[in-house]
Amino acid sequence: MTNTPQLNLKNTEVKIYSDVDLLAHAAATLLCNRLSSTKGDIAVSLAGGSTPKRLYELLASPTYLEQIPWKRVHWFWGDERFVPPDDPQSNFSMFKTTVLSRAPVPATNIHPIPTIGLTPEIAADVYAQELQRFHGEKVLSAKNPLFGVVILGLGEDGHTASLFPGSPALKERSRWATCANLDQAVPRITLTYPALESCHDCLFLVTGSAKRTILRSIFRGDVFPATRLKPQGRCTWLLDQAAAPDG
Ligand code: 6PG
Repeated sequence: MTNTPQLNLKNTEVKIYSDVDLLAHAAATLLCNRLSSTKGDIAVSLAGGSTPKRLYELLASPTYLEQIPWKRVHWFWGDERFVPPDDPQSNFSMFKTTVLSRAPVPATNIHPIPTIGLTPEIAADVYAQELQRFHGEKVLSAKNPLFGVVILGLGEDGHTASLFPGSPALKERSRWATCANLDQAVPRITLTYPALESCHDCLFLVTGSAKRTILRSIFRGDVFPATRLKPQGRCTWLLDQAAAPDG
């Protein structure tokens, strides 16, 4: 592709990589740069699904293991399926396998969304309190973003985290976490727009030919939950060639 298409969104840049591995290395480098340029404790919001798996594997690999200040990085989740943490569908489970079981992450720095022994509604409130406890404030502000980095994926319907088209969660502008898809077999908990937007860096990772159609619509200017996200800081869409729309 001679010229990378850009999105007509504020502070947003699109980068295209020939394959998933190169994209994952680029994402790892962007993450490490943000972590090293931030003093003190820093929060990362993790994406679920399958796309970020290669990135997570790299973070615990010799190439990046020594670059990450594990003692001061706190790991949160942008969304979670309401299943036990050892369920194959669990976003926590994937990160545990790829990173937590291979890197020196202090237990106090791991902040999974609770999914056992409480209702989805209570879990969302408990998680919002966990985020506020870490942040030290109950009100989000541009001067002190909640996250250093927010990592997100893109669904074929344009959802991100568990902010699905038509979901009441899209309208939530005060709570930091809420329930989504309660009518589904597996309900989900998701961070809301205000929480996900409160970041220095937002990385969308989108790979595979199955995402080409939704990306073509997004580049045409169509609006989806993913493009309604307005991160306070820099937003980078990292696409592989297979997902990138033609031309
Ligand atoms: C989830 C994710 C979700 C995901 C997209 C893309 O819990 O599934 O948070 O938003 O990022 O659905 O999923 P893939 O990476 O599997 O294509």
